[in-house]
Amino acid sequence: MTDWSREFRARFDGAPQLFWAPGRVNLIGDHIDYCGGPVLPMPIQFGTSVAVRLTDSGLVRAKSMNDSEPIEFRIGAPVALPHGSWGRFVEGATSVLAHEGVRIGGADILVGGDIPGSGLSSSASLTVGLIYAFSHAANRPHAPLQLALSAQRVEHEFVGVQCGLMDQAVIALAQPGAALLFDCSNHRHRPIVLNDTAVRFVVVDTGRARQLVDSAYNARFAETRAAAGSLGVEHRLFATLDVGEFESRCTRILDPVVQRRARHVVSESARVARVAAALEARDWPMLGRALSQSHASLRDDYEVSCTELDALAEALESQPGCYGARMTGAGFGGSVVALVDAECVDSVLRSASATYRQRFGSTPRAFVAESLGGVRSVDG
Ligand code: GLA
Repeated sequence: MTDWSREFRARFDGAPQLFWAPGRVNLIGDHIDYCGGPVLPMPIQFGTSVAVRLTDSGLVRAKSMNDSEPIEFRIGAPVALPHGSWGRFVEGATSVLAHEGVRIGGADILVGGDIPGSGLSSSASLTVGLIYAFSHAANRPHAPLQLALSAQRVEHEFVGVQCGLMDQAVIALAQPGAALLFDCSNHRHRPIVLNDTAVRFVVVDTGRARQLVDSAYNARFAETRAAAGSLGVEHRLFATLDVGEFESRCTRILDPVVQRRARHVVSESARVARVAAALEARDWPMLGRALSQSHASLRDDYEVSCTELDALAEALESQPGCYGARMTGAGFGGSVVALVDAECVDSVLRSASATYRQRFGSTPRAFVAESLGGVRSVDG
């Protein structure tokens, strides 16, 4: 276990306050949060640690255990760090907070993450963690939903991704032992308790780095906006159309590609409700089927999967004891989530990994997801 206070003191003066924000795995509801759909993510036991000490130096100095590039910028000066630099998240967090009236006179920060693999929202974990840390250290803590919205603003304005609110919401709002059913059209939410010992959600990383994800993501955002425009529906509420309503009007969307994108949005939205119900009814076969259908929809209609994700989902699903599997998150690489009988976790992973290794030459990393809750202060 990293001693964050000690690591901080080795790099800066003084004692820090410590915070932790989880990553997340989305159980179902991908690429619909920016269209007002319901989503069902759960936090994971891996995340980002933030050690911070506020100063009055007028400077923010930040170091990361995962990146050799130290960051330094002057509070209130125009944003200076290049796109792609992790420091954009830090600059973004301080700027958004300043707009919201939480002014920081300077800070020393050390961050470090242990999220294994991609597609598990390391960026939202960092952003929510930073805003939570700064606002708590300044004694001006945000309410959880406001925290999620402020973190989303950092992505929109400083990172350049038109993301929805799913990742930030689960990291800000999740409770231990539970997933979060979050309705992106009205921000209503409730925990879905995950206490059945008969099954596990297993997360497996393809090891394929996500490519062009930001530009493809923004392109999908634009396509769904075009679809909503053709149907005369507000984009931010597009996913609230029911499947019947959509099918009766879908020929108004002339571009067949845009029509498929829209079909994913409305069908995925309906699957989220089915999965939430199946989880509460402990109907694992129904839940598994919805996961598989979601993967097919993301692969065929939304086209955000890739060969490695398809192969891994298929390898997992074809094992006895696996109810269903799907890619999770934005796609184009990253991880798969599978619902597996608790007693079969080892055998499912062993066989699926062997199949994957035979084809791609690498062994995928895996873990059983556990919800420890959302962002919080931790003791030194
Ligand atoms: C990324 C975004 C989220 C969401 C997912 C896909 O994680 O940050 O807002 O759109 O992709 O479901």
